[in-house]
Amino acid sequence: MSGGGETRAPGRVKEVTSLANPLVKDIRALALKKFRDQQRAFMAEGLKLVIDALDAGWTIRALVFAKNARDNPAVQKAAARTVAAGGLVLEASEKVLSGITRRDNPQMVVGVFEQRLVPLVSIRPKAGDVWVALDRVRDPGNLGTVIRTADAVGAAGVILVGETTDPFSIEAVRATMGSIFAVPLAKTAVDAFLAWRRDFSGLVIGTHLKGAVDYRKGGYGEGPVLLLMGNEQQGLPDSLAAACDRLVRIPQAGRADSLNLAVATGVMLYEIRRAALPEAGS
Ligand SMILES: C[S@@+](CC[C@H](N)C(=O)[O-])C[C@H]1O[C@@H](n2cnc3c(N)ncnc32)[C@H](O)[C@@H]1O
Repeated sequence: MSGGGETRAPGRVKEVTSLANPLVKDIRALALKKFRDQQRAFMAEGLKLVIDALDAGWTIRALVFAKNARDNPAVQKAAARTVAAGGLVLEASEKVLSGITRRDNPQMVVGVFEQRLVPLVSIRPKAGDVWVALDRVRDPGNLGTVIRTADAVGAAGVILVGETTDPFSIEAVRATMGSIFAVPLAKTAVDAFLAWRRDFSGLVIGTHLKGAVDYRKGGYGEGPVLLLMGNEQQGLPDSLAAACDRLVRIPQAGRADSLNLAVATGVMLYEIRRAALPEAGS
C-alpha cells in the first residue's frame, strides 16, 4: 500500500473522499485476485469481524471507517490497534466506502488483513480432528459457507485441492461471516494432496452420488477423519475417489439429482461430529 491521503485528520488518521486517492485505489484493487495475490492481502467488512480478527492475532494492514463512525469508541479502539500494528487508518466518505466494498449500503468499517494459509505438510491430524478437503470448489458462496460450517462444528480446518475459487475474495469472506479468521486453511495441488493423504493415519471419507455406504453408517469413530467433497459440477474424480477408505452417500427422496455442495458438507459434518457436539439446551 503506497501513496498519499487527501487531508490529514488529527492523530494518524487520513481523511479520504475520492476514489482517485492512491490509497483507496490500492484497497479497491483487492477486489481482483491478481492484486490480492500480489499483496498477500484481503478485505473483511464489519466492525465485529475486524475486532475478532485483531483478537485472533491477524495482521491488519489498513482500517477504513465511515466518517459518521469516527466517535464510536469501538472504532476508535480498532483504529488505535491498527496504528499500533503499523497499519494505515482511513476515515472515508460513504462514496469511498461504497467504492471499496462495491456495495450501495456499505458497512461502516472495512479491514485489510494479511492472508494466512497453513502449509499442508505442517498438518498432523490427531484423534478427534475432522478436516474437510474440497476438490476444485468453484463457488465463493459455497466455499464461505463450508468454512463457516466447519467453524460451527469445531472442525480442524479446510483443505482446498486443485484449482479453486479464492477463499480471500470479498464474496467468499462475506459468506464465512467471520469464520475465515477462525478456521485454518490450506491450499494444495492434487499430487501433493494425494502424497499427504498416504501418510494420513485416520479415516478418509469421500462423498459420492454412487457411494455404497449410507452416510449415517460411516463408522467415523474417534480417529481423525478427512472428509472429501467433490466439485460442484463434476463430483469427485476417480483419482480422489480411489484415495478414500469409504465412499458415502446421503439418500435423497425427491427429484433433485444431488445436494448443493455446502449443504452436503453441512449434513456430513454434523453427522461426523454428532458425538462431539454438546446437546442444544444442555
Ligand atoms: C453438487 S454435487 C456434485 C454433483 C455432480 N453432478 C456429481 O455427479 O457428483 C457436489 C458434491 O456434493 C456432495 N454431494 C452432493 N449430494 C450428495 C449426496 N446425495 N450424497 C453424497 N454426496 C453428495 C458430493 O461430494 C458432490 O461431489
